[in-house]
Amino acid sequence: MFTRQEIINILNNESENERIFSLADKIRRENVGDAVHLRGLIEFSNICKSNCKYCGLRNQNTNIDRYRILKDEILDYAKHAVDMGYKTLVLQSGEDSYYSTDRMVEIIKEIKKLDVALTLSIGERSFEDYRAFKTAGVDRYLIRIETTDRELYKKLHPNMDYDNRLRCLKDLKTLGYEVGTGCLVGLPDQTMESLADDILFFKEINADMVGIGPFIPHPDTPLKDAQTGSFTLALKVMALTRILLPDINIPATTAMETLNPNGRILALQSGANVVMPNVTTTEYRSKYEIYPNKICINENPDKCHNCISAKINSIGRTIATNYGFSHNKG
Ligand code: SAM
Ligand code: SF4
Ligand code: FES
Repeated sequence: MFTRQEIINILNNESENERIFSLADKIRRENVGDAVHLRGLIEFSNICKSNCKYCGLRNQNTNIDRYRILKDEILDYAKHAVDMGYKTLVLQSGEDSYYSTDRMVEIIKEIKKLDVALTLSIGERSFEDYRAFKTAGVDRYLIRIETTDRELYKKLHPNMDYDNRLRCLKDLKTLGYEVGTGCLVGLPDQTMESLADDILFFKEINADMVGIGPFIPHPDTPLKDAQTGSFTLALKVMALTRILLPDINIPATTAMETLNPNGRILALQSGANVVMPNVTTTEYRSKYEIYPNKICINENPDKCHNCISAKINSIGRTIATNYGFSHNKG
């Protein structure tokens, strides 16, 4: 639909914003409808062996209270979420090797007994691990490419390898997962050209889900003095993603609402069709501090469910009652 150069021009031109937001809203309505899918998010471990320079969970951050939620407690949250009406659960964590293949498979099998779609977002694993998780019943996997600018990727991810990230995405596709990826917007030294490449990358790999979040500097990371990403630019990258990939699932991200009190609703009106409310209790929320001032850290699962449902209804949208599998026809 748009060429690379057109995408760059749109990103650079603020007078295009409203046109792009309403076009994305129209394309969203025509392709995936008005229903919003709620995915219940369980952030089950903030322990991470990696050191992504932007992330508060990075291994070298010693100013964080680390936790792991074990199987039985994960299941309690999962059951409560299902009782509230969630049809999809998302298990997310740092790169925590405690959750071996066998431990993950046990958790997956128990959760799948609850008759929900299941998404994992636990980072880079081997093909064999991804195969074992799929066989155990996982439906979807989220792993953002973060940026397609290889130089920038290298600077931000010590001891990580861009090609391995790509390998993960390819393995997940091969294994038949619905694959989610995405990027950060507003990273230091990130260019409009590279954001255009990110959007084209989502198209090229035929992503089923794309999550876009503004970069928010965390005080206990090497990027503490960097500038905060722009909410509007993140919204525009998200809207362009909807225009280029009309039938995929796109979340209104928590990071957007962290920068703008109405961020998720604005995102739902600019191309998004998914929200991922937290379904764990207050005790863990503040500890999963990827960036500061995260929303909902003093809330409980029921409060978030009621809050977001009311907001969605207030803009004339409904809550989906199905599993919300991707409409992506490739
Ligand atoms: N460890 C897994 C991974 O990296 O794929 C999953 C958890 S990780 C915390 C989830 C996402 O948080 C990352 O993909 C990254 O885009 C986002 N994130 C981390 N630090 C952030 C920051 N400072 N601002 C905004 N988003 C951030
Ligand atoms: Fe770990 Fe993920 Fe944070 Fe990187 S983004 S430090 S892999 S939790
Ligand atoms: Fe958590 Fe609004 S979604 S309080």
